[in-house]
Amino acid sequence: MARTLVVANQKGGVGKSTSVMNLGVALAEMGQRVLLVDLDPQGGLTAAFGLDSYNIGRSAYSLLLYEHISLARVIRPVRPQIALVPASIDLAAAELQLVGQPDQAHRLRRALERSRIPFDTVLIDTPPGLGVLTANGLVAADAVLIPVQCQFLAMRGVRPLLDTVSRIRGGLNPGLALGGLFGTMYRPGSTHAQEVVEELRQVFGRMMLRTLIYFDDVVPEAPVAGLSMLEYLPDHIVAAEYRALAREVAYA
Ligand SMILES: Nc1ncnc2c1ncn2[C@@H]1O[C@H](COP(=O)(O)OP(=O)(O)O)[C@@H](O)[C@H]1O
Ligand SMILES: [Mg+2]
Repeated sequence: MARTLVVANQKGGVGKSTSVMNLGVALAEMGQRVLLVDLDPQGGLTAAFGLDSYNIGRSAYSLLLYEHISLARVIRPVRPQIALVPASIDLAAAELQLVGQPDQAHRLRRALERSRIPFDTVLIDTPPGLGVLTANGLVAADAVLIPVQCQFLAMRGVRPLLDTVSRIRGGLNPGLALGGLFGTMYRPGSTHAQEVVEELRQVFGRMMLRTLIYFDDVVPEAPVAGLSMLEYLPDHIVAAEYRALAREVAYA
């Protein structure tokens, strides 16, 4: 049985999609068979693998809306050991189409459960916000990973997300564990960033993972080339950090 992890934070631009791509490649480097699921209508993860979410056939939308469709018909091989469920722009409408349906948050979970394709880890990328798409990710997952930007204001967004995780645990998905929080876009020279990390560790204690992801201007270049940092600059510190994060996550 695959282990399913969802990367969530209702704030945009904190490194969710970057983390899903790099963690996915890092887990594949460790020998795992990985499935990535893009639930963001913006399709950042999908684009990073060179696919165009404005012009795509079957996608995460099909999995959420059509109960009979199988995962096998939706996934695309993007690396030898990595498959992707791409996002399409019509995911933006899925929200409205699903609202009010009793099982609206269980669609992805059901689709994954129906599949017999063997994966070691499923990694789900979610859009900003805490709507029905993010809920589908949280309900499908065994654990949630929360990237937090190392800036003071970013910390404030964590509480509502943790409250949502508690609510989901109390109802829709009692099996959801807190996989942990990790700092992203950390500027090692900045006193402010150091203070934020100290405070995160104080407030969240053991919920904070050890790995910090450093900020570097080259990180946005990698997806433009269709690559993860591990492939674009394998010796870069950010590549090493994502490998460390993958080990922490895999053996947690
Ligand atoms: N460690 C990093 N250093 C520098 N830029 C980063 C880093 N991680 C992500 N970025 C950039 O920040 C932007 C937002 O990241 P992204 O992963 O798309 O966030 P989200 O999915 O949470 O919206 C992107 O342009 C991405 O390339
Ligand atoms: Mg994103």
